Amino acid sequence: MNFENMDVVSIRDFTRDQIEEILDRSRAMLPYAKGEKVSRALEGKILGNLFFEPSTRTRLSFESAANRLGARVIDVSQTSTTSIVKGETLADTIRMVEAYSDVIVLRHPHEGAARLAAHFSEKPVINAGDGAGSHPTQTLLDLFTIQEEMGGIEGNNVTILGDLKYGRTAHSLAEALTVFGAKLTFVAPETLQMPKDTVDQVKKLGGDPAITSDIEGVIADTDVLYITRIQKERFPDPAEYQKVAGTYRVDKEMLREAKKDMIVMHPLPRIDEIAPEVDSTAHAKYFQQAFNGIPVRMALLTSVLGVDF
Ligand code: NCD
Repeated sequence: MNFENMDVVSIRDFTRDQIEEILDRSRAMLPYAKGEKVSRALEGKILGNLFFEPSTRTRLSFESAANRLGARVIDVSQTSTTSIVKGETLADTIRMVEAYSDVIVLRHPHEGAARLAAHFSEKPVINAGDGAGSHPTQTLLDLFTIQEEMGGIEGNNVTILGDLKYGRTAHSLAEALTVFGAKLTFVAPETLQMPKDTVDQVKKLGGDPAITSDIEGVIADTDVLYITRIQKERFPDPAEYQKVAGTYRVDKEMLREAKKDMIVMHPLPRIDEIAPEVDSTAHAKYFQQAFNGIPVRMALLTSVLGVDF
């Protein structure tokens, strides 16, 4: 399959076969991601990392993935140090960075920003999160983690818990999991439930998600528990945030009801929604999940740059 020059804006841009191919390539990248094998496959390439919103894992794992394959990275992590403060538009910024690099990774506070950037750039643009919109590369690493940990995706009961309204990782993931035949349950305080657009898309893809606010009622049947943080920064009114802050928390007590081999995932950062005591249980896979960002982003970068591996 040829992914050369492809933009990665939404998980909807991929067919199931294409996703499977990227996940297979990610598996082949594991020894390189761990530093056990060395490759200079991306030597001479430059990655432009544009992060106009905070990030630890996504930015660093793109950078690490590029470095491990011999590429160089130029980056901007604060708009205050760029001409954006002088009023430069995103379109102009993208045209510039396109001239300075071979692939652009963009995180932006506005939904739709990555699509706009892709429109203005001839070089591939990878969406690293656009506001409350979507986060397709996170979804790829989430799918990879489920495959690695559960031996497959189809047939698993996946419970997505937390801020499903503003949590972009939950939106892309729900759609992709449906394509792969997982059974979904959305658990959230009523005001933070999954947006209609995502629910409609899941149904269009043949899914039939259960929707509830009661985690206790579904934990025993869950194979994969995917928890998200309440996205405080996206609430228009701080008082609304206060009403839902701290309304769910997964701890050892709750996990007593869970299947022995249920896995707990989280895109991180966590605030208080997973008690630290969970980290040492066999359920906890969120740090492994964060590591998986490296092989998956290696696979993506080589794919869109058309480099054989
Ligand atoms: C997430 C994000 O930025 O959407 N983090 C990540 O990329 N791993 C989740 C979050 O911020 O809660």
